[in-house]
Amino acid sequence: MQPHLELETTAFEPGQLPGLDEPQVALAGRSNVGKSSLINCLAGRKQLARISSTPGKTRSVNFYRVTPGDYYLVDLPGYGYAKISKTERAHWAKLIERYVESSQSLQAIVLLIDARLTPQKLDLDLLAFVQSRNIPHLAVLTKVDKCKQKDLAQRNKEWSSLLGGATPLPFSSKTGRGREALWNRIRELVSSDGA
Ligand code: GTP
Ligand code: MG
Repeated sequence: MQPHLELETTAFEPGQLPGLDEPQVALAGRSNVGKSSLINCLAGRKQLARISSTPGKTRSVNFYRVTPGDYYLVDLPGYGYAKISKTERAHWAKLIERYVESSQSLQAIVLLIDARLTPQKLDLDLLAFVQSRNIPHLAVLTKVDKCKQKDLAQRNKEWSSLLGGATPLPFSSKTGRGREALWNRIRELVSSDGA
């Protein structure tokens, strides 16, 4: 069955974070990696989350309620976009950090990684961040429709060694590849009590 996603809360400032009790799975990754597109693909709706070819589209933390199951998918602002001001970047970093630190019911973070690129410093920083906080995580390679099979095999190799043996999930919002597999993993993460 197609789960239903509804945007419930948007936080631009740490003070606006809702402090939800329900389980949450957050999507994190560099700006323009395809977080909002992935939300739309999962929802089966083209315009639920706003997307843009200009990096830096998502500037708030967006909470999408999933039914059935009563949990949330959380779309985080992309980090590391160089062309915005330092002040604004610091603001986003603080917002993301505050969200992660204050969310008791954050079950897992999905790390979105561009399948076309070798691991970037910002990807490695994000991985180190979730590892240092012992947050369960799952790596997803985005935009695989734009990636040659040979490169994808190389990405798998690079990332599984960084992830201690786990293989990242290939995903394309354009073709829908990986959609069912990702829903299944999200459901597992939500029901696993963060273990
Ligand atoms: P920020 O909100 O800036 O952090 O970006 P984001 O990570 O939410 O990325 P977004 O979903 O806005 O997508 C950025 C661009 O990549 C858009 O032009 C999308 O159409 C494109 N894109 C996203 N996913 C895919 C995909 O699977 N395949 C292809 N070919 N393009 C994609
Ligand atoms: Mg976005």
